[in-house]
Amino acid sequence: MTVLNQVYKCKICGHIVEVLHTGDGTLVCCGQPMELMPEKFTDVGMEKHVPVIEKTATGIKVKIGSIPHPMEDKHYIEWIQIFTDGKVCRKYLKPGGKPEAEFNDKADNAIARELCNVHGLWKTQ
Ligand SMILES: [Fe+2]
Repeated sequence: MTVLNQVYKCKICGHIVEVLHTGDGTLVCCGQPMELMPEKFTDVGMEKHVPVIEKTATGIKVKIGSIPHPMEDKHYIEWIQIFTDGKVCRKYLKPGGKPEAEFNDKADNAIARELCNVHGLWKTQ
């Protein structure tokens, strides 16, 4: 059984999918069950991945992380997502850009999540 907004990855082809509607079946890609990507909440070591949320005049800025994450071709933040009051917003990033995203949402209870192409899924507590 899946859970809403879980993220799954295919270990063979690299497909990544997010659950938008739950079901009892097993998600399968390339003939194998897809692997649930666990959400991580605590940084370990020098590289920082946990999103940092800042309020701005127009909404919310999310930075990855407390020390800016690399944005190199082989190692970068693929996207940043926020969850607020039943809404989900995502910004896709590219190598060479900044590891941050701005959202026009003034909610006080935003939760942020991001995907590093090497180190997986990270979320604010
Ligand atoms: Fe990383």
